[in-house]
Amino acid sequence: MEQASGAGRFAGRTVIVTGAGSGIGRSTALRLIAEGAGVVAADVIPDRLDELADQAAHELGDSALRTVAGDIAQRETVGRIVDAAEGRIDGLANVAGVMDGFLPPAEVDDGTWDRVMGINLTGPMRLTRAVLPAMLEAGGGAIVNVASEASLRASASGAAYTTSKHAIVGYTKSVAFYYGPQGVRANAVAPGPVATNIEGAMRSEFAAQRAGAVMQATMPPPAPPERLAAAVLWLLSDDSLNVNGVVLPSDGGWSAV
Ligand SMILES: NC(=O)c1ccc[n+]([C@@H]2O[C@H](COP(=O)([O-])OP(=O)(O)OC[C@H]3O[C@@H](n4cnc5c(N)ncnc54)[C@H](O)[C@@H]3O)[C@@H](O)[C@H]2O)c1
Repeated sequence: MEQASGAGRFAGRTVIVTGAGSGIGRSTALRLIAEGAGVVAADVIPDRLDELADQAAHELGDSALRTVAGDIAQRETVGRIVDAAEGRIDGLANVAGVMDGFLPPAEVDDGTWDRVMGINLTGPMRLTRAVLPAMLEAGGGAIVNVASEASLRASASGAAYTTSKHAIVGYTKSVAFYYGPQGVRANAVAPGPVATNIEGAMRSEFAAQRAGAVMQATMPPPAPPERLAAAVLWLLSDDSLNVNGVVLPSDGGWSAV
């Protein structure tokens, strides 16, 4: 019989979480630990990883958390994350991501474009590529990419972020298609607004008028990050064994507007 949900859903499993120092990634890492996983937590800000380790030790009694500080857009960081998992990798949550200042197509600069693509798309691609051999050899694994409402529409961000978050959905489906028959599932969660530390300021007056008006009229209030972690964990767990290649909006109904 397949395992039922509840405490211990991830007992004995190793899961990598990027962006684990804050917001959705942090909630995901803590809940995974609470449900029995061994977590490899990665983030570009080392102090945030130290805080996470303290929280895991004091609130959950977990002293086995492995942390990796580094920029996910750099190849060498990907190698260090995989090494920290020490062979066994049951799950990967690609959560780290950055916004783009809402710069519309005529205003986006090369630096913003490259940074957003590197962190939101190329980093997750390289890390996925790096964990796939271990998952395929073990006969299965679950990958969850944190997409966005900006994977579904153009009015939730600028050009670079919207493009990166649409692209990660295509990449998610590609992994699902090619490796589903071998037991590896890949799915995406598309959050609406979430109360985190993400830098969401608009750097374009035009975007503030054009996108600002649409968002003001339709956007639900921000959700606590724990609600997003719940969706990520469901897709990482055996509770979703029959689900592969989907984009799950967790957005208070925004995508239905
Ligand atoms: N907050 C929202 O409203 C919202 C909405 C839709 C989608 N998202 C997505 O959710 C994900 C998590 O964002 P969040 O809201 O929790 O933000 P957050 O800023 O609170 O947390 C993101 C974490 O990722 C880390 N990070 C940033 N760049 C990195 C890099 N180059 N390498 C490694 N780590 C890096 C940050 O240091 C931070 O700790 C992102 O992919 C974001 O695009 C967020």
